[in-house]
Amino acid sequence: MTRVMMLCASPRKGGNTDLMADAFARGAEAAGAQVEKVYLDDLWIRPVAHLADEPAMRVDLRADDDMPKLLERLAAADVVLFASPVYWAGIAAQLKAFMDRWSCYAGQPWFRDAMPRKVYAVGTAHGAPMPEMGEYVIGPLRDTASYLGGRYAGDVNFTGAKFAAVGNHPEVLAECEALGRRAIEMAREA
Ligand SMILES: Cc1cc2nc3c(=O)[nH]c(=O)nc-3n(C[C@H](O)[C@H](O)[C@H](O)COP(=O)(O)O)c2cc1C
Repeated sequence: MTRVMMLCASPRKGGNTDLMADAFARGAEAAGAQVEKVYLDDLWIRPVAHLADEPAMRVDLRADDDMPKLLERLAAADVVLFASPVYWAGIAAQLKAFMDRWSCYAGQPWFRDAMPRKVYAVGTAHGAPMPEMGEYVIGPLRDTASYLGGRYAGDVNFTGAKFAAVGNHPEVLAECEALGRRAIEMAREA
């Protein structure tokens, strides 16, 4: 069974990126995948602490929070959806903090083995009317997927600030659903 983990960064449950993730899940489930949604804002994940230069020497000094358990579940996923709004021309801190902590584990064989095996996808929303605003989230996450050696299924970018506004845009949700199906197909091609 293909496993999907959706990392939802917005604290707004039922908001734009959350609804986009739900649509992605519909596509993935229709393709036969098992989907887990994680609301990062419900977890206690601190920003990264001091790290050694040499990856093999690194220790996660803050491993007493929710990070290690979530990372273990992430390692087992075949497909990862990053669902984050644009916050101040960047990724929401809830997701950024989780990703920064990956660096603590970057020298460990299991991490180096697990991360390149995955298919990655992105859903984002932003209030400003220029579609390129979405690149502030999409660009770094696409580059991260590439840096990790994973495959990139694509992204969906919604322009709208109001709570759940994407609900009035079935074409955007259909794009998310199609992205979910495509990500599962790609994961099976591996
Ligand atoms: C803290 C914060 C920062 C934001 N920064 C930006 C921004 O830099 N550019 C932008 O276009 N929209 C910005 N927005 C608007 C959100 O990206 C927009 O409302 C989005 O639809 C929220 O997605 P959500 O419903 O999934 O939370 C910001 C919103 C918040 C709360």
